[in-house]
Amino acid sequence: MRIPFIAGNWKMYKTPKEAKAFAEEFKKSYEASSVKVAIAAPFVDLETLVKAFKGTGIGVAAQNMHWESEGAYTGEVSAEMLKSIGVTYCIIGHSERRQYFKETDATVNKKLKKALAAGLLPILCVGENLKTREAGGEKEFVEKQTVAAFKGISAEDAKKITIAYEPIWAIGTGKTATPKQAQDMCAFVRKTLKKIYGSEVSEEMIIQYGGSVKPANASELMNMPDIDGALVGGASLKPGDFLEIVHF
Ligand code: 13P
Repeated sequence: MRIPFIAGNWKMYKTPKEAKAFAEEFKKSYEASSVKVAIAAPFVDLETLVKAFKGTGIGVAAQNMHWESEGAYTGEVSAEMLKSIGVTYCIIGHSERRQYFKETDATVNKKLKKALAAGLLPILCVGENLKTREAGGEKEFVEKQTVAAFKGISAEDAKKITIAYEPIWAIGTGKTATPKQAQDMCAFVRKTLKKIYGSEVSEEMIIQYGGSVKPANASELMNMPDIDGALVGGASLKPGDFLEIVHF
């Protein structure tokens, strides 16, 4: 059985003080259930959140990492460093990193391998832009991204990776994919994983939808058969909104 997993992605929002205030507020009304919950925060907030969420079961995620353990890479942070402060997850290959920081399928693959080797659980993002969607090329595009990301990764490791299907045209635009569009693409990602790893593995893997998920649409999306969770941007910044989503 797949355990639902809902993660908030704060992107470049919140100081440590604001992160702590969020955590205290969130904890007041959070009811632990069979749904896994995590917050992906800026690097400077991670230790604060690890401490604030201790004993709650709420996980802490980074939003990026480097593929080397250490070295002359000014401005970068390694998987081992994240692990050492109690971080559990790391988002890898978010479309904003691909778009603004030139991450490629090859660097995404290297980062996934390093995260797994260091004991971090990756949340891999895939998803097409509007131009690709309008040209009807979304499946081909997402298949290519998925196959490239998982290149050389064993079935056992693959099961540790959460995949977030995030159509770029639905991110921060308020334009959510319809539940049917989101379901179709999450099912397609699973089909792609089945081709690589077989159905036993693909049926176990957690696939999230991301893109304008909010309290009003979370339960409809979460009820789709191949959508096992959500990666939530804007609506994860307010404790009340994110609580409604995780208690969907
Ligand atoms: P929004 O929920 O703000 O559309 O962002 C989605 C996202 O990019 C999460 O990683």
